[in-house]
Amino acid sequence: MASGGSYRNGTPKASSSSSSSSSSSKAVERPLSLNPNNNKTSSSSTKPKPSPTPSSAALRRSSAASGAPAGKDDAGVLGRVRVAVRLRPRNAEELVADADFSDCVELQPELKRLKLRKNNWDSDTYEFDEVLTEFASQKRVYEVVAKPVVESVLEGYNGTVMAYGQTGTGKTFTLGLLGEEDTASRGIMVRSMEDILANISAEMDSVSVSYLQLYMETIQDLLDPANDSIAISEDPKTGDVSVPGATLVEVRDRHSFVELLRAGEAHRFAANTKLNTESSRSHAILMVHVRRSVKGRRDREVTSSSENGNASHLTRTLKPPTIRKSKLVVVDLAGSERIDKSGSEGHTIEEAKSINLSLSALGKCINALAENSAHVPFRDSKLTRLLRDSFGGTGRTSLVVTIGPSPCHRGETASTIMFGQRVRFPNCW
Ligand SMILES: Nc1ncnc2c1ncn2[C@@H]1O[C@H](COP(=O)(O)OP(=O)(O)OP(=O)(O)O)[C@@H](O)[C@H]1O
Ligand SMILES: [Mg+2]
Repeated sequence: MASGGSYRNGTPKASSSSSSSSSSSKAVERPLSLNPNNNKTSSSSTKPKPSPTPSSAALRRSSAASGAPAGKDDAGVLGRVRVAVRLRPRNAEELVADADFSDCVELQPELKRLKLRKNNWDSDTYEFDEVLTEFASQKRVYEVVAKPVVESVLEGYNGTVMAYGQTGTGKTFTLGLLGEEDTASRGIMVRSMEDILANISAEMDSVSVSYLQLYMETIQDLLDPANDSIAISEDPKTGDVSVPGATLVEVRDRHSFVELLRAGEAHRFAANTKLNTESSRSHAILMVHVRRSVKGRRDREVTSSSENGNASHLTRTLKPPTIRKSKLVVVDLAGSERIDKSGSEGHTIEEAKSINLSLSALGKCINALAENSAHVPFRDSKLTRLLRDSFGGTGRTSLVVTIGPSPCHRGETASTIMFGQRVRFPNCW
């Protein structure tokens, strides 16, 4: 794992003030080259797109799982990715700099619509599964984005929750806040664990976690940073993705989980950029393994026939408990950024390029899925290899795209919205 300098985690912390010259910085293409005219509806005629029908790629329980109710999938929800959009409130800088300007978006949460302004007169309208305004509480965000996924994980299905968006728009805020001083602020990771712990049996079931970061195409164990070259394993038969080299820690209560997250976070690469003083420079991946013991049921009484006529003898066997295994993956992606805007330089530029490349690979996979392409380039990056079963439709996946209000970043906001639309409306899974 690369290290050195004054980073929070031992690598150089890029200073926003030292990177004022944009001439020394190089613009890197935004990760997605999605056509903003796709999937949009004009403000006057918004039509919801039909939900794609889950097909072969529809819900499949974890291969190791058993005993979950079959056919639980409510078609149209499972089998496709649910996409919410969350708007961050204006920050102190934007309150001053954008004081005379309107936000680049207007939200209509009751209609689950977002209007992206083109100019003072015109806007494009997009639909999402949920539209979360700048006033949405962390609790509400958890309930609409993650709770349905957590519930299905408790029933034995795999689930993924991930946040995507431009740097500084609130991905880590949404997923990773520990909420120690203010419990209302705790994010999706902590709330998910609380829900899981509250719904399992302390005697019969168990929960264990791995916490990883993907940095410059290397997977590092955030719970054991010396373990910095973890391999991804893919089961050729089931397609299940796992990281057998990662530390797995059993969690018994909320407190010990928060301590684990804090320890992991301390090792996460972060930098101070112009767009975010605590910008995540790695993708963080929390894997929560739930192992439940489903009580065995008694067999029915059996009547059998013998030589002397019908003899009914009762056999009553107690089936051994069934073990049901499932996995919740929570992914806090590093933000896409334009280097001329973030002020990244030196090592931070290399990081930004790597972040943008892996997000670009993710975008290409989404596009390939959307176009029903025979080849989906999952193998192009470790991020897409890791997320393959989340986007391959093997469980329930929820994506929250985070956006900022500033008209200065309208282009990046449009790109993020298009990413969310492509995930929400592919025609093929
Ligand atoms: N919904 C919100 N309400 C209040 N403050 C927020 C909200 N979302 C984000 N913020 C604040 O905005 C700043 C940037 O948020 P955060 O670090 O979560 O962004 P990020 O998307 O993770 O960025 P990066 O990609 O650079 O890691 C933080 O100071 C955070 O507290
Ligand atoms: Mg972050």
